[in-house]
Amino acid sequence: VPLLPSPCRWGILFSHPRDFTPVCTTELGRAAKLAHEFSKRNVKMIALSIDSVQDHLSWCKDINAYNGEQPAEKLPFPIIADKNRELAVKLGMLDPDELDKDGMPLTARVVFIFGPDKKLKLSILYPATTGRNFDEILRVVDSLQLTAYKKVATPVDWKPGDSVMVVPTLPEEEAKKLFPKGIFTKELPSGKKYLRYTPQPE
Ligand code: BEZ
Repeated sequence: VPLLPSPCRWGILFSHPRDFTPVCTTELGRAAKLAHEFSKRNVKMIALSIDSVQDHLSWCKDINAYNGEQPAEKLPFPIIADKNRELAVKLGMLDPDELDKDGMPLTARVVFIFGPDKKLKLSILYPATTGRNFDEILRVVDSLQLTAYKKVATPVDWKPGDSVMVVPTLPEEEAKKLFPKGIFTKELPSGKKYLRYTPQPE
């Protein structure tokens, strides 16, 4: 799949168990509403569901209506029609616990995020019965993009604008030069100086 045509583009592929299912409809509705946020971050969105193009087009009308919009056959991103589960099998997306009426496994809710080098940067897998949190997905995109370009890591529950951690492999002198806004090192019983915070770099 030619996911990332432009050299500096990121990509997200998110899979769904089936068209015309309730949780998936709410997820795709939310993804459509957040499309401008992904676009601002230069992330190309692609969904996948194991139904036909015709089903996808008809389902798009429901999703738009769920969002309170005109029931158009279009969303701000494409949905791959993986009717025969070819990609779902190849990419390990099937959920063995969720079967359709013919006993065939449905796709789990997988999130794959790709960097501009087309390599996988993050994967998350939710069962079919748990809808994803798209605010969290945007948050991880922010973390992935920040940490791809700066020698920092984002701590627990980090949000954009919060302080970040200096990566443990960066020597003190180099860290001082790289982070002119300053470094705060928390004292710890071990005496080791590894908990180093710095304001989020630009
Ligand atoms: C849903 O999208 O609502 C759903 C799909 C498969 C299993 C359970 C829930």
